[in-house]
Amino acid sequence: MKQDLTDLREKLQALLSEQHMQYQQGKVADYIPALAEVNPALMGVAIATIDGQIIGAGQDKTPFSIQSISKIFGLVMAMNRIGDSLWQRINMEPSGQPFNSIIQLEWEKGIPRNPMINAGALLIADVLASHFSSSKLAFLSFMRQLAGSEAVQIDRNVYQSELAHGNRNAALAYLMKSFGNIDAEIPSVLSHYFTQCSVTMSCQQLARSLLFLANKGKDPYTNSNICSAKDAHRINAILSTSGMYDQSGEFAFSVGLPAKSGVGGGVIAVVPSFGVICAWSPPLNPYGNSVVGINLITDIAETLGLSIY
Ligand code: DON
Repeated sequence: MKQDLTDLREKLQALLSEQHMQYQQGKVADYIPALAEVNPALMGVAIATIDGQIIGAGQDKTPFSIQSISKIFGLVMAMNRIGDSLWQRINMEPSGQPFNSIIQLEWEKGIPRNPMINAGALLIADVLASHFSSSKLAFLSFMRQLAGSEAVQIDRNVYQSELAHGNRNAALAYLMKSFGNIDAEIPSVLSHYFTQCSVTMSCQQLARSLLFLANKGKDPYTNSNICSAKDAHRINAILSTSGMYDQSGEFAFSVGLPAKSGVGGGVIAVVPSFGVICAWSPPLNPYGNSVVGINLITDIAETLGLSIY
């Protein structure tokens, strides 16, 4: 699909204006105190395409905490590092449970349902902490490479806040270790996981950095293979079934794009062979997904006729 996006800029601005009061329907994440400090009225949106166009509106260049959107990048690194053996330690089924649920993990003997819930992301953090001499630095440099910018940073305030309020994640990691499904020491697993959640990026940077998923694994800016076409397909499939937590079914039903949210208020959606949409607005609905982020992506997908189904 080739499309000149110049005319779309005004449309994006209009869609954003329609949302200017809607953020009040949600609530900014406060279980990590540093996230509660963000101005709830901020919002931005950007679209990056595989032919090199990027347009945006609102605060599309303002960095925010990417939180669980980082789970995609951790997964790519782990798949590249240990290949298909990964899938003996983690599943690819939707969980139907809240993102930080612990209950299913015991029934299923320490095998997380998928890499997009916290248990799965902690398992991935273990793979990275166990296979890289400095997994946190490797993660940051991967993000900078994909965003095409050295400006991508880790927010130390968010990191410390996560660490101080990370008991649920620690419990998930220790439970998996009790089943023999975690190799590294728990503090280093948690430290990697909280580091990747604390990365800050803008809508423009995030949209650009995920273009490889819309382009069969290849970064269109550098022409380098970020993952295989087969793995890009698999990641998009997991995003379609599990990327929006226990709202994934509803999102597939109404929008129909592989997507991922984070409690920082970011939402990304992949449009295969076209590009990536990223929307940001901090207040969340009860599932932990950005209210305005979902509204914006729904409106854009409808306006442009984008759906994989
Ligand atoms: O694990 C946590 O508590 C967070 N740092 C990440 C959670 C997150 O973004 C889940 N998303 N909706």
